[in-house]
Amino acid sequence: MYSNKGELPRRGRSFDSMNIGLSFDEKHLNNEMNKVAFPKIEENKDNKTDNKTERSRAAIVFSLKNEVGGLVKALKLFQENHVNLVHIESRKSKRRNSEFEIFVDCDSNHEQLNEIIQLLRKHVNVVDMDNSTLREEDVDMEHVPWFPKKISDLDKCANRVLMYGSDLDADHPGFKDNVYRKRRKYFADLAMGYKHGDPIPWVEFTEEEVRTWGVVFRELNKLYPTHACREYLKNLPLLTKHCQYREDNIPQLEDVSRFLRERTGFTIRPVAGYLSPRDFLAGLAFRVFHCTQYVRHSSDPLYTPEPDTCHELLGHVPLLAEPSFAQFSQEIGLASLGASDDSVQKLATCYFFTVEFGLCKQEGKLRAYGAGLLSSISELKHALSGNARITPFDPNVTSKQECLITTFQDVYFVSDSFEEAKVKMREFAKTIKRPFTVRYNPYTQSVDVLKDTMSINSVVEELRHELDIVGDALSRLNEQLGV
Ligand SMILES: [Fe+2]
Repeated sequence: MYSNKGELPRRGRSFDSMNIGLSFDEKHLNNEMNKVAFPKIEENKDNKTDNKTERSRAAIVFSLKNEVGGLVKALKLFQENHVNLVHIESRKSKRRNSEFEIFVDCDSNHEQLNEIIQLLRKHVNVVDMDNSTLREEDVDMEHVPWFPKKISDLDKCANRVLMYGSDLDADHPGFKDNVYRKRRKYFADLAMGYKHGDPIPWVEFTEEEVRTWGVVFRELNKLYPTHACREYLKNLPLLTKHCQYREDNIPQLEDVSRFLRERTGFTIRPVAGYLSPRDFLAGLAFRVFHCTQYVRHSSDPLYTPEPDTCHELLGHVPLLAEPSFAQFSQEIGLASLGASDDSVQKLATCYFFTVEFGLCKQEGKLRAYGAGLLSSISELKHALSGNARITPFDPNVTSKQECLITTFQDVYFVSDSFEEAKVKMREFAKTIKRPFTVRYNPYTQSVDVLKDTMSINSVVEELRHELDIVGDALSRLNEQLGV
């Protein structure tokens, strides 16, 4: 959960807009590499100058006759001059059929680059060269706010809670209840001691806590068939089956986390209290959902002034098990990484009016998908009563709407589908000013910062591989169909 208090609500270049310049067929290069015993060009530490301002990157394209050994001769020049090659590709020359063009992405200092270019000109025909757009100093990362680059980095920000454990506001129902406050401290300590990779501590809930959960569970389940979206209704029974969602049992976060990981790759991370919007949204970028484990005060089971585990488990979890919704949530998180405070605020407001209070249309009827609605009997009824103000979700408008914490929202935003909301958020995210864009790498559970040709080329290579798989699948299908 993140705090709406105070900070809320008052909001790189994308891959598509980047001119990566060259489209090469790497198969040609692979073929040529297989024919010759090409000496590996090692990363040479000596050529890394201490003076950062002198470092430079250059993309060079040179043509090569289609003869055995030609590429080796040319690349040897780079090796002998200690110029790092960070990427090489080849394509058939568009100008002369008998020639190949080689693209090399170099990382070195200006002096060495100048030398290698002079040498190359003696041996090959330099077709194109560009070192102006690749200079490191062009990408100013100095003023970018810190953000986690890998999932374990969340350890550095998940404990930056704005309110801790037994620190309850005077108007909190449990403010005067010392037993409850002690219990809240217990949950807060569990969360504060959590580190990435740990199993989430198993909690023995008290009878009173189970009773409170039971009331919320029973009353909300009466409304779900007519008020919740179809994705929610599809996933809730799975949680009963796999995570013991029952009126007489509060599910364990570890069970829920394991279930979500199998469904969408989302995992749960226990949190001690409110996080800032920036820290909360950063978790979503890694498909990590910060989740409270304590139960609301028993004096009024149908009211809580803050998110509790009933809100998380009944409101959020069923939809985090839905792939399209999981991706929508993650994209908001990714857009927030390294964004300005103003941009994060706008994203958090969009999150609030979608993931917390969003509505959608299904079979011509309004349905709720927002967790704040799906965990609040009175507001869920109100939002779909026909008396609430409802308007289409538009991030440019939604991001300026005031979020209300202690009363019903003035307005609810409706989307036709998560897909539609995702497309709109994606367009909105492109308007956020950052000197880079990010891409989640699920293999390493880290974010790739895309800010130069090398990082972008590596994404292109992955995409090529994915497209190759699609092409292979299509050709096999065609074979089966006899096309
Ligand atoms: Fe929430």
